[in-house]
Order: sequence, then C-alpha cells, then structure tokens
Amino acid sequence: MAARADEVSDGEIIGVVVEGVELALYRLQGTLYATGNICSHQFARLSDGFIDGDCVECPLHQAKFHIPTGEARTPPAETAVPIFAVKVEDGAILVDLP
Ligand code: FES
Repeated sequence: MAARADEVSDGEIIGVVVEGVELALYRLQGTLYATGNICSHQFARLSDGFIDGDCVECPLHQAKFHIPTGEARTPPAETAVPIFAVKVEDGAILVDLP
C-alpha cells in the first residue's frame, strides 16, 4: 500500500516511499496518479512542488511535468519522469511498480 486513498485530496500531492522507490501521488479531479518523485533535471522532490492544471511544477527550477504521462513540458527539464499505474482497493492506494 502506498497510502490511504483519503490521504490524497483533490489538487494535492503527497510524497511516499514504496519498496525503496520515491513516488509522488496526485489526485486531479478525482483521479489518482503516481509519478516518480524526483525531478529529472536535478535533485528536487516533485511532492514539494505545485500543481498547475494537469502539470506539476518542480520547486527548484520550475520545470513542469504532465502528471498523467510524466512528460517534461517546460525547461529546464528535458526528460520525462516515470509514471506508475494506480488503483484503489479497500481504501488503499496500490501502485504497480516494475
Ligand atoms: S530540479 Fe527540477 S527543474 Fe531543476
């Protein structure tokens, strides 16, 4: 379990560690998403950043990543962050790690 579903409110991000993998969990308009939590540019946690529409803005140099796809949308980041499938069972958020 990554977190309880009620721990992630709409428009919020939380950072969690599952099996040693740092993840950011998001809820956008009711839908949960998971990405890697470490920015692809340098070392910053996206869970310390801000949601802007369907993107997360890195707190360090303000690169934006598209939350559903992980795609880097604005510089200085050029590389996507990984995304992970998410499901909820019995109120628990389960993330499909590789
Ligand atoms: S560390 Fe995220 S944009 Fe630089």
